[in-house]
Amino acid sequence: MGFEGITYTVLTFGCQMNKHDSERVRGMLEALGAISVDSIEEADVVVYMTCCVREAADMRLFGQVASMKNIPLREGSPLHKRIVAIGGCIGQRDGEELFKRLNNVSVVFGTHNLASLPGLIESALEDGSLHAEIKDSAESFPSDPPTSREMPWAAWLPITIGCNNFCSYCIVPYVRGREKSRPLEDIVQEAERLVNDGVLEITLLGQNVNSYGRDLYGKPRFADVLEAVGSTGIKRLRFATSHPKDLTEEVMGKFATLPALMPALHLPVQSGSDRILQAMNRRYTSGHYLGLVEKLRQKCPEIALSTDIIVGFPGETEQDFLATYDLVEKVGFHQVFSFIYSKREHTPAARIVDNTPRETIQDRFDRLVKLVETQAEALNQKDCGKNVDVLIEGASKKDETRLVGKTPKHQTVHAPLPPQTDIAVLRGTIQQVRIEKAGPWYLSGTLLSA
Ligand code: SAH
Ligand code: SF4
Ligand code: F3S
Repeated sequence: MGFEGITYTVLTFGCQMNKHDSERVRGMLEALGAISVDSIEEADVVVYMTCCVREAADMRLFGQVASMKNIPLREGSPLHKRIVAIGGCIGQRDGEELFKRLNNVSVVFGTHNLASLPGLIESALEDGSLHAEIKDSAESFPSDPPTSREMPWAAWLPITIGCNNFCSYCIVPYVRGREKSRPLEDIVQEAERLVNDGVLEITLLGQNVNSYGRDLYGKPRFADVLEAVGSTGIKRLRFATSHPKDLTEEVMGKFATLPALMPALHLPVQSGSDRILQAMNRRYTSGHYLGLVEKLRQKCPEIALSTDIIVGFPGETEQDFLATYDLVEKVGFHQVFSFIYSKREHTPAARIVDNTPRETIQDRFDRLVKLVETQAEALNQKDCGKNVDVLIEGASKKDETRLVGKTPKHQTVHAPLPPQTDIAVLRGTIQQVRIEKAGPWYLSGTLLSA
């Protein structure tokens, strides 16, 4: 039995790793003849790519899968029963346990078993029984399965998988395994193929791209990857994520010398308190972080910085929080992803006893969000009156007469779609927009060219 006539959908939670893995799942299933659909109602096969970095994402999956029992299989489906497959980080963490918790699931696969998914689904289609495959780790960087990109002009390019950092709150090293780097020649070959394919923007991916190459012969460094990919003719180059302890002078220097490298950097700080940073096992101080920011701005004055912050790490005091607040105030981030600490079983931080009331943590979180909003708006205001290059992504979901795109600094831009202009022609092209208004999370203006 193949996949002809079978419809599928992929539902993705979590980070860019998962989003990229989902593109690969789609690529593999499409290559076998399966038909992509947008809803569970129309899908014969539902694949979940899951995340367990915080409890909320974890719980959402269980609720969604359980409630799927009430959605009947579409009329005309060649199957007797919908196949539900769970992959990603919960698949890796819970393995076959998932069959006990969710009795409508028939396939479970781990983060190192992506390539086995079509075979597992096929077996489930043939014999109706349960199939799971979870490898503890990848022996080497996985080969390239076919990929079906969500946006044809933008590609994620994984350069490392896994993580060796073991930040004390984080489950990722347990569900993504040890860090493995992809050989530099492979990365460059894929980048060249993408450029030939018409891709305008590449985002290099890894849990900590800065430690790239430590496990490879000759020890190529991340700066070498940037140089090589930045010289393929790609228009826009980005990378995520960077760990502050491993961000080198050479990498920072590339923001000044590589025209394709966009002036935006996501540099998670997590906390501004040295005591908390140490308890988090982050291996840098707030002073080190501020030093990096200063150097980055010397090399690239335009650079837009974004970060991740955890509020309410066990034992965080008001003083610790004020140190975080102070650091944020000093840096001025274009965007901050703030998270309330979520206890993850089996991580070292889960053993720290903490009696801080929930309301205190929520209050700190709200104060931080307010500060970030004010600062982000002030930073965006500085772009009013400028003409900026915008990579057009399509029409706004809320208003079809407006187009949406991204600036080099990764700000979202809205502009009215000029009359008689087909959005399909603009999608995936870079156009100039004159910025007229700015809020904390977006800019708006008028399309100049096209
Ligand atoms: N490798 C990346 C991303 C890891 S997960 C990095 O190091 O930055 C993305 C973000 O989730 C982290 O930066 C952290 O801010 C947050 N996070 C991770 N574990 C968490 C937890 N237990 N509770 C709350 N937030 C968490
Ligand atoms: Fe988690 Fe730290 Fe690794 Fe990031 S660097 S994935 S926060 S352990
Ligand atoms: Fe979530 Fe796994 Fe990414 S736990 S954040 S999807 S690596």
